[in-house]
Amino acid sequence: MRTEKLLAPSILSADFSKLGEEIKIAEEAGADIIHLDIMDGRYVPNITFGIPVIEKIRKITDLPFDAHLMIVEPEKYVEDFIKAGVNMISFHMDATIHSHRLVDKIKKLGAKAGIVLNPATPVSTLEEIIHYIDYVLIMSVNPGFGGQKFIPETLKKVSKLKKLMKETNREDVLIEIDGGINVDNINAISKEGVNIFVSGSAVFKGNIKENIKKLKEGMYVF
Ligand code: DX5
Ligand code: ZN
Repeated sequence: MRTEKLLAPSILSADFSKLGEEIKIAEEAGADIIHLDIMDGRYVPNITFGIPVIEKIRKITDLPFDAHLMIVEPEKYVEDFIKAGVNMISFHMDATIHSHRLVDKIKKLGAKAGIVLNPATPVSTLEEIIHYIDYVLIMSVNPGFGGQKFIPETLKKVSKLKKLMKETNREDVLIEIDGGINVDNINAISKEGVNIFVSGSAVFKGNIKENIKKLKEGMYVF
């Protein structure tokens, strides 16, 4: 089991009128990864941002970019995202027809490939794809919006996923969790064995530096 603990602020909750500035504050405060929530108004009922924004913010930070694609037919766009400087790409398997082919494509283009599980998607759907992926993103809210409440039942998937990883000899797969993570629940979530913690509103609402400090303290299992 990989033991690293990484904080991935989602810029969805940042102030877009000063996005560059807020990313720099997050980086200086200890953010490990920048999480990019890409929504198309079809896979989820919301629209966010795309390639031009990523190209601009790529110039201001060297932190890894983790694109969470909540879009239909993600295979059409992964090359553009990687060219824009994205290092990790995750997609929802029900948004594409050939998941295996898409994982292969992402990896051949030089990025890490992840699969996202919606709250109602069981871990068992990963059985045939686990051999090929770098990480799994467990959604702890329904995708589409920042600032929602953590769904506690989704946390049970972490132990199920760890079991599958063990059975398939893929204990190197990283486990990411996304949605409703805050200073009050991050420690309990971390104890389950999660590696990457996405947090939007709990990072960008209020004092970014203080928020990141508290979240990072909570990430470590004492
Ligand atoms: C939801 C997104 C999440 C979300 C996280 O569709 O995938 O990344 O923005 O935001 P918070 O931390 O506010 O739930
Ligand atoms: Zn996300």
